[in-house]
Amino acid sequence: MHLTREEERIYDGETGWANQKCMQILVRLGELFDADKLIPIEWAHVSGVSYKTLGDYPIEYLEALAQAGAKVKVKTTLNPQSMDERYLGRKLPKALVSKQLSILEQFDKMNVERSLTCTPYYLHKTRLNSHLAWAESSATVYANSVLGARTNREGGPSALASAIIGKTPNCGVHVDEKRTPNVSVKVEAPLRNETQFGALGIHLGKIMGEKIPAIRGLKNPSRNALKQFGAGLATTGMTNMFHYNVPVQSKGLEEITVEAADIESTIESLTTSSSKPDLVFLGCPHCSANELKLIEHLTEDRKVKHGVEFWVCTSCHIAKKMRNTVRKIEKTGGHLLEGVCTVVSWTEKLGVKTIMTNSAKTAYYAPTLNKAQTILAPMKQCLKAAFEE
Ligand code: F3S
Repeated sequence: MHLTREEERIYDGETGWANQKCMQILVRLGELFDADKLIPIEWAHVSGVSYKTLGDYPIEYLEALAQAGAKVKVKTTLNPQSMDERYLGRKLPKALVSKQLSILEQFDKMNVERSLTCTPYYLHKTRLNSHLAWAESSATVYANSVLGARTNREGGPSALASAIIGKTPNCGVHVDEKRTPNVSVKVEAPLRNETQFGALGIHLGKIMGEKIPAIRGLKNPSRNALKQFGAGLATTGMTNMFHYNVPVQSKGLEEITVEAADIESTIESLTTSSSKPDLVFLGCPHCSANELKLIEHLTEDRKVKHGVEFWVCTSCHIAKKMRNTVRKIEKTGGHLLEGVCTVVSWTEKLGVKTIMTNSAKTAYYAPTLNKAQTILAPMKQCLKAAFEE
């Protein structure tokens, strides 16, 4: 991989340990994936924020970077954390809360924006073909496929290295030829709600691995539906992007057909319980403004059932913009958790045994990460289970 003179100086440690470490990470990755050079990025999005999934050693690395004076060179946002200070922070053990806060402090020192969301695309607009280094898999797929930006699926450390250097290796879907579809998918199943879109993603991710699909048969999908689809796709597969309803060359490609039975059996496999949920959760990936409005509308003047927790997750940014909606949702007895990911929070420590959600991604991870049984169903059914008649 070609390095400029300036990049070589950084690599050799002439600008300090933190820069050198980050440059080493990027060069190693570039070599692994046949990059010819590093290219400037406009925006990095860093994952690995929750103490629950991060653990102690990575905190030492973050502390070392911050102590060495590392600062991000481009706009850099953060994935969700494990708790909010208003609600979960008061219920969880103090030791966990303080570890979580110390992680955020290290990112603060590096000038990373405390966006705490897996839907950074609701914060700022991306330009067509802009180069990014995003680490949240669902956001990566959305950026490439829906927004027309370019980002590989970074890990937390490589996204942070890119943020500090301001560059990423020129490989993968940054390169035109690597964005062409290599499998053709015909969706014959009628998709009527966000949960079915998520299930389609889970189903295809399992059979496609890293391939990029050209998908036919999605009838005017909403952006929220595409968000669920991409999140599912990235959960079970390594695909970075999909093409949908656009005339891309798909002749001669391997063909996959998805039928209604595939979607039904995927939803069934992600439902492990028939008992009543003790937590009903919406907001994976984080809710958009119009999803919050819809929840407000559907729950107006209603009350959350006794013995059920109702959580809605969104970014701090959207929650701040929609204080009135947040107030109304909380008036029902529900909790609007800003900047939190339920999957990487300690629901099991709060006694949650069964989670009901409209998100196929949450239903996929919850049995292992939350040690919970799951019920996967569309938003309206979730609300029916959470609210009094
Ligand atoms: Fe976001 Fe957590 Fe779901 S990071 S995509 S809410 S698993």
